[in-house]
Amino acid sequence: MKVIILGNAGAGKSTLARKLIARQPAARLSLDEVAFQGGTERRPLQESVEDVRRWISEQDSWIIEGCYADILEPVLASADELIFLNPGVEACLAHCRSRPWEPEKFSSRDEQDANLDNLLQWVGSYETRSDEYGLARHRALYESFEGKKREFCHPEAYASSRCSVYIATSLDGCIARSDGSIDWLERANAAVPAGEDCGYADFIQTVDAIVMGRATFDKVLSFPEWPYGSLPVYVLSTTLRSRPAGVPDSVQVLSATPHEVVERAAAAGHHHLYIDGGRTIQGFLKAGLITELTITLIPLLLGSGIKLFGDLPADTNLRLLSSRAFPFGFVQCHYALCQQASPPMPTLEGQPL
Ligand SMILES: NC(=O)c1ccc[n+]([C@@H]2O[C@H](COP(=O)([O-])OP(=O)(O)OC[C@H]3O[C@@H](n4cnc5c(N)ncnc54)[C@H](OP(=O)(O)O)[C@@H]3O)[C@@H](O)[C@H]2O)c1
Repeated sequence: MKVIILGNAGAGKSTLARKLIARQPAARLSLDEVAFQGGTERRPLQESVEDVRRWISEQDSWIIEGCYADILEPVLASADELIFLNPGVEACLAHCRSRPWEPEKFSSRDEQDANLDNLLQWVGSYETRSDEYGLARHRALYESFEGKKREFCHPEAYASSRCSVYIATSLDGCIARSDGSIDWLERANAAVPAGEDCGYADFIQTVDAIVMGRATFDKVLSFPEWPYGSLPVYVLSTTLRSRPAGVPDSVQVLSATPHEVVERAAAAGHHHLYIDGGRTIQGFLKAGLITELTITLIPLLLGSGIKLFGDLPADTNLRLLSSRAFPFGFVQCHYALCQQASPPMPTLEGQPL
């Protein structure tokens, strides 16, 4: 992992860095450590940049966080990913006000409190400042980065979103026949002993909302009854304009990128999303948003069909969390996605910056 986190003071950079490191070990550098020569005076830029370069060369896996566009610009190309935390000035101010004492920066709580007004003024001018720490400069840096990058704007979206896949595939990786039929799966399920649901009920009760592709939605509509009760369902489609007649009002049709979907769902309080449908899952995987996969392998080779997985921009490492072999031949593996499969969204709980 080689990640740069950029944003205003109070945007949640340190919190996010800690969360990422909890998922995958990495060294962390706060640019505050290299920017100053004591007090509030900046060091010569070149010295700061050289320190960062040296530090990077000593790490296999790292996260750098800060608001210093001038230090970040020369090292930007070393990053695999740039995350721009831009929750808005009000959210940043609120987090600065509620920040606990930071002993590494201030010798006492009183000293920190004495600095608060200055900090709030500085943070509050983020959108109008033209310096290295202001929004315009951060935006320009973000736009200039050609690698993987993400901007988070809505504080609600920062609450650790999880995107889980729970799906059955044939042994050769198909989720349906080429024409979309799942007769083979229905037959396999029919042979499962009564009362055995392979963990589905336990899984679905942890889910806040389902995100499904339009093709999967079409299939669900052919079922004798709506299987999701009142659970919110986001149906992704560029062709459906609105919810078809007769479909529960827990269903919302939308056309949006995976990141937008996650942000929008989080804003509605839906933090654990069940992502369903082959192309939809592939889109979320490409966007680095899938956090967990539970795949139930059905002992059958379909030969051809709709594949669960497709092209990805890079290798995606998985960690096996558990596996189960059922006496009727299904094998279920539960995986967590490692780094590139997106951290959960950052959180604004706890200490910002
Ligand atoms: N084996 C299992 O457990 C399992 C589970 C689920 C589904 N299935 C089967 O898998 C098949 C469906 O999978 P699939 O890969 O064909 O498709 P899918 O992912 O269900 O649906 C793809 C469609 O979703 C829409 N879509 C996806 N991402 C979008 C985005 N970001 N913005 C707007 N629209 C977006 C597009 O609809 P538009 O074309 O309308 O734009 C796209 O054509 C069905 O046959 C279903 O029965 C099997």
